[in-house]
Amino acid sequence: MHVHRFEKLWIGLSLLLIAGFIGIVLFGFTVMDLKVPGIEEGRQVDPTTVLSDEEFSRPGVRKISDDHYEVYMIAQQFIFRPGSTQPLTLPANTRITFHMTAPDVMHGFEVPGSGLNATIIPGQIATFSTRFPEAKSYGIICHQYCGAAHHNMQGKINVVPPSEFDESNLISQ
Ligand code: CUA
Repeated sequence: MHVHRFEKLWIGLSLLLIAGFIGIVLFGFTVMDLKVPGIEEGRQVDPTTVLSDEEFSRPGVRKISDDHYEVYMIAQQFIFRPGSTQPLTLPANTRITFHMTAPDVMHGFEVPGSGLNATIIPGQIATFSTRFPEAKSYGIICHQYCGAAHHNMQGKINVVPPSEFDESNLISQ
């Protein structure tokens, strides 16, 4: 069977493209150690009782070590707690682990400019870590339609220099 050389060329380029895509995914999951949010712990929770859960009943920032803080945050119609009524303040250049869930319906958690983007599903705890490189303010937006006031569901994160981070607002362990 005769295959035209242009056809051979395009078959070759297509195979190269597919190999490239597979290579990028493998590179991401191995060398860059990317993870799907929530897979790491995969902890589940009953959404009807999550508001009285030991940790989620006191959402906020907890200190794990000088270089590691964790945030328990609830996404609910139509606020992020913390984040909406009060900005969430976090130290720069510090490992921050978020634990998030929702008691009502599915919400989104996106922090434009930070690379953070998660879908918050009732019954699932999404866990992901980041490091904000510099002191800066970020917005939080909900990117899943969650009801009549979805478009108003937003919040704010203030990243401050570690020396200015006020530890008096931390939630005790
Ligand atoms: Cu919450 Cu849209």
